[in-house]
Amino acid sequence: MSELLPLIDSFGRLHNNLRISVTDRCNIRCFYCMPAENVEFMDKQELLTFEEIERFVRVVVPLGINKLRLTGGEPLVRRDLDQLVSRLAAIPGIEDIGLTTNGILLAEQAEALHAAGLRRINVSLDALTPGKFKQFTRRDGFEKVIEGIKAAQRVGFDPVKVNAVSVRGLTEEEIVPFGDFARNTGVEVRFIEYMPLDADNAWEREKVLFAHEIIERLSAEIMPLIPEGNQEPHAPATDFVFEDGIGRIGFIASISQPFCMSCNRIRITADGKLRNCLFSLEETDLRLLLRRTGSDAEIAAAVRASVAAKKEGHEINTARFIQPERPMYSIGG
Ligand code: 5AD
Ligand code: SF4
Repeated sequence: MSELLPLIDSFGRLHNNLRISVTDRCNIRCFYCMPAENVEFMDKQELLTFEEIERFVRVVVPLGINKLRLTGGEPLVRRDLDQLVSRLAAIPGIEDIGLTTNGILLAEQAEALHAAGLRRINVSLDALTPGKFKQFTRRDGFEKVIEGIKAAQRVGFDPVKVNAVSVRGLTEEEIVPFGDFARNTGVEVRFIEYMPLDADNAWEREKVLFAHEIIERLSAEIMPLIPEGNQEPHAPATDFVFEDGIGRIGFIASISQPFCMSCNRIRITADGKLRNCLFSLEETDLRLLLRRTGSDAEIAAAVRASVAAKKEGHEINTARFIQPERPMYSIGG
């Protein structure tokens, strides 16, 4: 009967949320994630096929996984992603599928993704001017992302959220424009504290612009932000709304207020490695099991073992912290 027990780790955390990276490739080069040039990507044969991903999800649903999020690299550079969405949406027990994208290809794909059953979209966008966008991404494309956000709203995605990584020295000028953007468009803007997952290993604590600083600034320059009631206890974001009820702002304060104790997530990389934490130093190779030799029971047992071995938290705020070898683009957010 053990296959029917939920995925509970040694700290009592129940895992119902799976993040699936579908590629490590990306069409931009955010400095907090990728190196500027000469990125070594996975070979195509290393990537899990849609069949393998679907099989994996079917195996973990009986273990209690009911929420999925597709990530990358940039997931929309994986060809026919809408077909994967259709397959996953058809699996009984999957209640919710989300996608995190940089938005560059979203305008062309929004309709097909929505038709395939996707409903929730997060667009990564760190700045509201083309120049500042390029400082973050080392590429052009700001207008395309804005078009993508508009297209997502037009075809009916709800919610559409924007993720903005908050970096000291860059994000300050964007705070008030993002507050206005949230109020004018209905898009929830979520500020994510810059985390040590950059390929360049250039992260320093001093480079993180903290959530409370942004809250103070928005409250002073637009109007007070009020914490939302009924927040999902496992959501890493703390959500606020402006006092007049218009404009939602969220904060993922990974550094200043770690939320590891309520974490409900596991992740599978595009090459089939299971990770029980963004910051894990160990991973479980599931590709071979999925590709050839493994029975469903063996795959389920490997997932259980990974969850059982999950550490208490990320330790970024301690001297013990070691940055994982995989940068963000090859883990998948
Ligand atoms: N710190 C914080 N957020 C990051 N993201 C990527 N790298 C980092 C980092 N080093 C964000 C992306 C995306 C989400 C998956 O994670 O902008 O929105
Ligand atoms: Fe690409 Fe996302 Fe990494 Fe930016 S954060 S380089 S959009 S994978």
